[in-house]
Amino acid sequence: MCGIIGYLGYREAYPILINGLKKLEYRGYDSSGIAIFYKNGFFLCKTKGRVSELEKKIFSYKIKIKGTIGIGHTRWATHGIPDDINAHPHVSNSNELIMIHNGIIENYHKIKIFLLKNGFTFVSKTDTEVLVNLIEYIKKKNKLSLEESVRISLNEIVGAYSIAIVEKSNPETIIIAKLGSPLALGINEKEFFIASDPISFINYTNNTLYLKDGEMAILKKNKELDLRKIINNHKLNPIIKKLKINLKEIEKGEYKYFMLKEIYEQPKTILDTLRGRLLIPKGIICIDGIESNKDIFINAKSITILACGTSWHSGLIGEYLLEKLTRIPVEVEYASEFRYKNPILEKKDIIIVISQSGETADTLAALKLAKKKGAFVFGICNVVGSSIARNVDAGVYTHAGPEIGVASTKAFTAQIIILVLIALKIGKYRFTINNNFYQSFCKELGSISEKVNNTLKVYNSIKIIAKKYFNVNNFLYLGRGINFPVALEGALKLKEISYIHAEGYPAAEMKHGPIALIDENMPVVIIATKKGCYEKIIGNIQEIKARKGKIIAIVNEGDIQINTLADFTIKVPYIIEELSPLITVIPLQLLAYQIACIRGENVDQPRNLAKSVTVE
Ligand code: F6R
Repeated sequence: MCGIIGYLGYREAYPILINGLKKLEYRGYDSSGIAIFYKNGFFLCKTKGRVSELEKKIFSYKIKIKGTIGIGHTRWATHGIPDDINAHPHVSNSNELIMIHNGIIENYHKIKIFLLKNGFTFVSKTDTEVLVNLIEYIKKKNKLSLEESVRISLNEIVGAYSIAIVEKSNPETIIIAKLGSPLALGINEKEFFIASDPISFINYTNNTLYLKDGEMAILKKNKELDLRKIINNHKLNPIIKKLKINLKEIEKGEYKYFMLKEIYEQPKTILDTLRGRLLIPKGIICIDGIESNKDIFINAKSITILACGTSWHSGLIGEYLLEKLTRIPVEVEYASEFRYKNPILEKKDIIIVISQSGETADTLAALKLAKKKGAFVFGICNVVGSSIARNVDAGVYTHAGPEIGVASTKAFTAQIIILVLIALKIGKYRFTINNNFYQSFCKELGSISEKVNNTLKVYNSIKIIAKKYFNVNNFLYLGRGINFPVALEGALKLKEISYIHAEGYPAAEMKHGPIALIDENMPVVIIATKKGCYEKIIGNIQEIKARKGKIIAIVNEGDIQINTLADFTIKVPYIIEELSPLITVIPLQLLAYQIACIRGENVDQPRNLAKSVTVE
């Protein structure tokens, strides 16, 4: 979490940093700060709250901030509450070193005690202030250059970091380093852009270098990039790539929030995910990572899917699809739990990791553990070149485009599409599905984008439902089979952006406990599309009705049976059961969005959350 940014060049740094920080706010937005350097001094401003608060504070000083070198930070608190003091940049005791940091220093406490014994004092509760003072201690004690002090200090650190540090008396140099947390460098002639995510500098340059774990770079004005290994100071050859990002994709356009834009993009992102992978009418599925590891998948004894949050929900849908179409037993685990349970893994066991950002620390750590134990790790990621994508044995990108709204929407449907393709491909290899089934399934896939587009028309009915229930304290979401994970996802969406408590349950489990919650104040969203235990779902609806619960049912167009039972029905197009999550999740995304809007919440930046969870 946290977003870091920096600039060194010939342009005014302030607008570059402020605008770049705004683009990084998806990584954290509880406080922010910048430091701009000039000869033998610097301007520092930090504040609790979003980047717009920082801008206001700076504006209120009524001064012109001049300087062509600077660093900035937007924070998602780990050590210490979000306030002005804990906000970054942090300054060392002598006021000489100024640093920003994304990540967690796990052994900070031990180092802090050591530094306290050596006369250092601390104003904040952060691990970052400990690190910047460790660098100062090592620098002064050994009379070293800043780069060597940074290098030696980082070799003492346990944890994850991406940092940028500047020395007041030598403000024409920025040192950056990375381990665990992402760090990209944009490079033009005579200027460097530093950022946790290149979207914040892409309108200046697409020449990008992603620092690898254990690398540091010394950036000097008018000098070539100097890239090194932290462990031994060996010089490295920088590999600079041209990054392709469509600027339109990272702008809100006519939409009030990115989340709504991303919900509405789904008919297109589904086509983007399918492009080149599904060749209709021949019904050919091309996924390189599966094809080149065909034998591993054909002979698989089991598959374990690892992910967090929404990606974990798509993993549950993947379990259903893979088991049904390939007959390989599948387990889905929270990456965070998997890592600490001493998992039983044998060489060439298959692990599938799913992550939109490709940076989720829990998923990355679980992946590394699985690889260490000899498993074959296949990745499904959205962000190209992300840490997870770079660490897997093989994988596939979802190509859903940048997802900026903190609540994941289009990445979820793109992940499902990929899981469908993988399940079909392996099923065909293993002869667990017959050709007719395969061909008709591929045909259905060809119609899914249009059906999602038609489903978006439910927004008007959703607005009426949201108006009625936006003020309740609890919601229940029910689904069965492949739509049970959709119920979980609907509940998660509502919780995270509207702060209404919501739970997802398999509909049949209701009678084992949650039914006690139902009274006339409890809205129950129930996925009741045809197939998938339809008759049983009607039974569940009757049970809710008998207890005066309010029923909001997602039904197929033309359904008349549930119409008479439910308080509200949302009619969606029919599609085969295996693809139904792609349709049924749409009204749930819109409902969560609309309720959050009516409640006046900031949909794209819900409290306490961040888009990319790079802490464990
Ligand atoms: C919910 C949401 C999170 C993420 C989770 C994993 O809307 O976005 O639950 O799904 O933090 O993130 P990724 O997929 O980036 O690994």
